[in-house]
Amino acid sequence: MCGIFAYCSYLQEKDRKTVCDILVNGLARQEYRGYDSAGLGVDGDKKGEVIFFKEVGKVAGLRKKIAESKVDMSKTFLSQVSIAHTRWATHGQPSVVNCHPLRSDPTAEFAIVHNGIVTNAAALRLLLQKRGYRFESDTDTEAVAILCKYIYDSQPEKRLSFTELVKTVLTELEGSFAFVFKSVHYPNEAVTARRGSPLLVGVKTERKLKVDFVDVEFPSVEGEKNIDALAAPTSPGGLLAPPSQNNLMRTQSRAFMSEDGMPQPIEFFVASDAAAIIEHTKRVLYLEDDDIAHISEGELHIHRLRRTEGPPVSSIRTIETLEIELAEIMKGKFDHFMQKEIYEQPESVVNTMRGRVNFDQHVITLGGLRQYLNIIRRGRRIVFCACGTSYHSAIATRAIFEELTEIPVTVELASDFLDRKTPIFRDDVCVFVSQSGETADTILAMRYCLERGALCVGVVNTVGSTISRETHCGVHINAGPEIGVASTKAYTSQYIALIMIALQLSEDRVSTIERRKQIIDGLHALPSQIKRVLEGDRGLQELATGVLANQRSLLIMGRGHQYATCLEAALKIKEISYMHSEGILAGELKHGPLALIDENMPVIIIMTQDSLYPKVQSAYAQITARKAQPIVVCNEDDQDIPAGVKTIRLPKAVDCLQGILNIVPMQLLSYHLAVRNGFDVDFPRNLAKSVTTE
Ligand code: AGP
Ligand code: GLU
Repeated sequence: MCGIFAYCSYLQEKDRKTVCDILVNGLARQEYRGYDSAGLGVDGDKKGEVIFFKEVGKVAGLRKKIAESKVDMSKTFLSQVSIAHTRWATHGQPSVVNCHPLRSDPTAEFAIVHNGIVTNAAALRLLLQKRGYRFESDTDTEAVAILCKYIYDSQPEKRLSFTELVKTVLTELEGSFAFVFKSVHYPNEAVTARRGSPLLVGVKTERKLKVDFVDVEFPSVEGEKNIDALAAPTSPGGLLAPPSQNNLMRTQSRAFMSEDGMPQPIEFFVASDAAAIIEHTKRVLYLEDDDIAHISEGELHIHRLRRTEGPPVSSIRTIETLEIELAEIMKGKFDHFMQKEIYEQPESVVNTMRGRVNFDQHVITLGGLRQYLNIIRRGRRIVFCACGTSYHSAIATRAIFEELTEIPVTVELASDFLDRKTPIFRDDVCVFVSQSGETADTILAMRYCLERGALCVGVVNTVGSTISRETHCGVHINAGPEIGVASTKAYTSQYIALIMIALQLSEDRVSTIERRKQIIDGLHALPSQIKRVLEGDRGLQELATGVLANQRSLLIMGRGHQYATCLEAALKIKEISYMHSEGILAGELKHGPLALIDENMPVIIIMTQDSLYPKVQSAYAQITARKAQPIVVCNEDDQDIPAGVKTIRLPKAVDCLQGILNIVPMQLLSYHLAVRNGFDVDFPRNLAKSVTTE
């Protein structure tokens, strides 16, 4: 949640207006992450001065405030550092004083932006107040800004470097965070650090970088001579392999050295998400937990906060080239990102399968799992762990996993999994499903399983995210950036990715050959079938503006493979149209929910044809006997639905894939309900795209 954006330009003349525009655009690109207020801090007219702009509400409001301000926007800077933030309040109301950047004192000796929660902020606040420091906001973040000043003030004779100072501050902090620090004492320098929240740095230069990585500078320990020897490179990745011996001065960063030793103009962009950087540069590096990046004099240095126990941390950070295009994250001809993403599904499912499914030979190849297949097959159970929609994709595919692999499967909500301290063992295989790869609950569950020695598999959309980096192996679902808070195309791609995993795991089982063929043929048919489903959009819009328009509640029932569809449809509806909705397992009707049914209760029943069809028919009979008038989701050629009944008719797919088609009209229905009610479809109230707090 929340977005951080910082812009550091070196030896490139920029006026204040340009700087502000870059910052505000950087925030706008991260709006989808969810926030309640926005702010930024840029260099002032006098040396050491910072000018802040802050506004509660949308980034557009901040933009307007800047445009209307009397500040001289034509003032130019040869080099500058500026920071910006969209805040998702955790400590203190959304208000202008609580808006970031937060400052250490009225002259803003230190100004910081922060994502996450500092859990020991109350203790720090008390301590600093006792020392005479005054607070102006209710945030946890302000304690960190003031702590910077306190540490700076307490060392008047020995001036720490900016990095050393931030290091000292960070060692005092508990909780999760991403920070950018700016200070009048360190002009044109920025320090950024993360623990638990994502951060990446984009680099833009005229000339090519000398190498494709940045060396990590490790803290020295007593009695240790060759510090880098401890930190074996684990992921070379770049074009040039890093040298095994460090024969450079550690204070140099090879990537930014120019041929002739002359300083070269350069720009750095720090952000929580690549979407904010892509319009400036495709060259980015992702910071790891406990990395501290120092930007100064046109160079970027990465330091480690501490030596971590456990697996060695790579001694380089690769400067990667992003593959996504700006167009991919723009709305195009659609009114909302969610609508665009629903409509992208015929393509996004192809992207999930691309290069992985051989439809002629009926073979699946998931490169990211290849080396681990036998370990997974030998596992004594598979534990899926996820939240929200990602959890539903695991529910949707659990049956086919069990059928094909014959390994027992459990599906866990990450928060509950942790609350229960679920026993996990070395022979367990834990699969973490996440669109963002940054969901705090899922990350914590993953780390819990890593600690217990289980094999951890990630099924993630966002490349470079925490889950994709920290799991042993996994599959990227390749659905493309998903910006609408309501997850749509990620669901169908997760669903397919999980099916592909089950198919690959069972490729050695002769008894499954026919079934596997049937499913792979079914996968082949999906893109065109989804297109046909989308053609029915008009009918769904009519339902949303007609019979369902003024309802307060909606029950969605089904069973077997369609139970997940019911849960996911109900989540979509409540999430964006704020209408109460419940997904009900049809087999449970008579154990309680049937009491809700009368002629006034709106119901959708999912009756696509599979082996459970007769049982769902009996659920249909039970509710119509209580005068319900359900809308029936059924297959195109189903002749058994009585005349006069409202239907949503869909192509027929293989039983375990039918849920991929069935969810699409439900996504559209929820979309139209929200639009009809005039709600903010892409940014529903109280929710964030990436839930990085517990
Ligand atoms: C889905 O519409 C929601 N926005 C939400 O349930 C989401 O799926 C959940 O927060 C998990 O997110 P993740 O997939 O990024 O881990
Ligand atoms: N905890 C901080 C605050 O409430 C930062 C929240 C955020 O991640 O935006 O101000």
